[in-house]
Amino acid sequence: MLILGIDTSCDDTSIGIVRDGVSVLSSVVSSQEDLHSRYGGVVPEIASRNHLAMMIPVLTEALQKAGVTLGEIAGVAVTQGPGLMGSLLVGVSFGKSLAAGLRIPIIAVNHLEAHVYSSFLDRGVPEFPLLCLVVSGGHSDLILMEGHGKYRVLGITKDDAPGEVFDKVGRELGLDYPGGPHVDAVAEEGDSRAFHFPIPKVSGGPFDMSFSGLKTRALLAIQSSGKTEETVRNLSASFREAVVEVLELKLEEALTEFRPRSVAVTGGVSRNRLVRERVKRLGDKCGLPVLLPEPQYCTDNGAMVASCGYFRLQRDQVASYDVNAVADLELKSWEDNRP
Ligand code: KG4
Ligand code: ZN
Repeated sequence: MLILGIDTSCDDTSIGIVRDGVSVLSSVVSSQEDLHSRYGGVVPEIASRNHLAMMIPVLTEALQKAGVTLGEIAGVAVTQGPGLMGSLLVGVSFGKSLAAGLRIPIIAVNHLEAHVYSSFLDRGVPEFPLLCLVVSGGHSDLILMEGHGKYRVLGITKDDAPGEVFDKVGRELGLDYPGGPHVDAVAEEGDSRAFHFPIPKVSGGPFDMSFSGLKTRALLAIQSSGKTEETVRNLSASFREAVVEVLELKLEEALTEFRPRSVAVTGGVSRNRLVRERVKRLGDKCGLPVLLPEPQYCTDNGAMVASCGYFRLQRDQVASYDVNAVADLELKSWEDNRP
């Protein structure tokens, strides 16, 4: 069964076509990075206008690459939220029009849930329970997935998300936008012990996280040390080490408490080289299979939405053709969500 997935939650227009929930036939992402880089961040109005311009070309390319026609698509899955309202609206309106025109189901997908499914793409469904950390530009969610549609949100960030702090520190260091991948690359040449960033204490639940204190310390360190090449390298390495230590610590605590059968890290920040290295090490230590999406599926893409949509459709979780975007859509814990 072929599902077409659409994601326009932020600044990438993306459509993926996936067979039976896990085999990716095509995944096309039109990045708007160049349009937003001169502003140092995403400008919502520019993002939604460009989604509108790119929907049809991205759809055409996704069908071509997959070698299928619209008539073969069994359902359209679309990110309903969370995300930027204007951007979401374009994807949701396009998705429901397409589904209604083809007389096939429209499936509304939570963007965070889709990020969990990105770790199944081209690999298969892991053994549950799965402990998944979704780390991106907007989120740091530690989720225990007990089965399809059954989640427990164990912890979230109480302030900034890891991608957000990487981007802000990168900008302050004078690196290109978005800062995350550049800080990661520069950090490879630096000394991670050059600057000391203590692990922040968080008030809240045991699996909640905090990154804004680390960000402030890094910004102050940049101001006082200047931006010599050596400082940029060493600060990037020390800051990356500190962020990854927080993620590793929370994952390890959750592994000990919940004893899952597999572990995954997904979202844009799961492209980070040190994140991948440390999570693999943790998995080996605990004897657990580790799922890290291929780099192209870490960042936002339509294929992960299609995957999640397929498993929702299997459970008859179909939306109506008047479904709407919800900017602050929450991923509710299974216990709170039970009918
Ligand atoms: O998942 P994503 O595409 O969008 C959101 O849903 O937010 O994540 C984008 C974020 C950006 O903040 C970007 O800087 C970060 O992921 N990112 C990285 C790396 N690659 C992307 N952060 C750290 N290291 C990387 N290699
Ligand atoms: Zn995302």
